Amino acid sequence: MRSPSPRLPSGFPLARPTHNQPEGLRGEGNGRARGSAMIIAIDGPAASGKGTLAKRIAARFGLHHLDTGLLYRAVARDVQRHGGELSDPPAAIAAARALDPATLDDPRLRGPGAGEAASIVARIQEVRTAILEYQRAFARRPGGAVLDGRDIGTVVCPGADVKIYVTAAPEVRAERRYQELKGRGEPADYAAVLADIRRRDERDAVREVSPMLPAPDAFLLDTSNLDIEAAVDTAVGAILRKVGQRGGA
Ligand code: DC
Repeated sequence: MRSPSPRLPSGFPLARPTHNQPEGLRGEGNGRARGSAMIIAIDGPAASGKGTLAKRIAARFGLHHLDTGLLYRAVARDVQRHGGELSDPPAAIAAARALDPATLDDPRLRGPGAGEAASIVARIQEVRTAILEYQRAFARRPGGAVLDGRDIGTVVCPGADVKIYVTAAPEVRAERRYQELKGRGEPADYAAVLADIRRRDERDAVREVSPMLPAPDAFLLDTSNLDIEAAVDTAVGAILRKVGQRGGA
């Protein structure tokens, strides 16, 4: 059953200044338009819990939810399906331009290796550009949206109403992922999971285009010592404070 929706302050939504945005992202197309519904950007590294958090926040506030990592996972899947190399830009760009969002519910996108493959194609600027408008259009859906990823608060929706950057120590994230794999009866090795997480963090954080980065105005949520319920409560509190300030309630 869905939890009762916390009330948003009356007068919401209000547009916010967009001075932190890169040139070219201001105004229309920045994922936020005056008078539109609430947009929440959730970013963070692999296995930080941002996906679960985003889902729970979307349910709590009755917003649409997009896991943007699935887009990159699907691009990588399509490259491999056509026999291409993940690090071959033309193959990845073609797959990104032809991506069919209707295929995002493919269970293989959650399978082993899919995240790693996604982080390879995600380094290519034209791949990111090809799926940018889809993400922004999703964010503008009537009713509002939560998007989670790596660059939502910085590039996709720099004008989002609320930005949350979720972190946790790599060892904690590895332990969670390890337990999750074991729980599903899949082969799991803690050291390998940790190495995978560190490699992906490094690749996502140092890439030249849209690196994984907290937006300057993001609320930092370290879940190292929080369970999911505590993380959701903290995030909901931060959201209500933020929109309350701007909603005048
Ligand atoms: O969130 P995830 O683990 O499913 O993402 C898989 C990879 O996709 C991640 O390692 C980097 C890339 N990604 C990205 O570059 N930008 C996003 N907004 C989301 C994911």
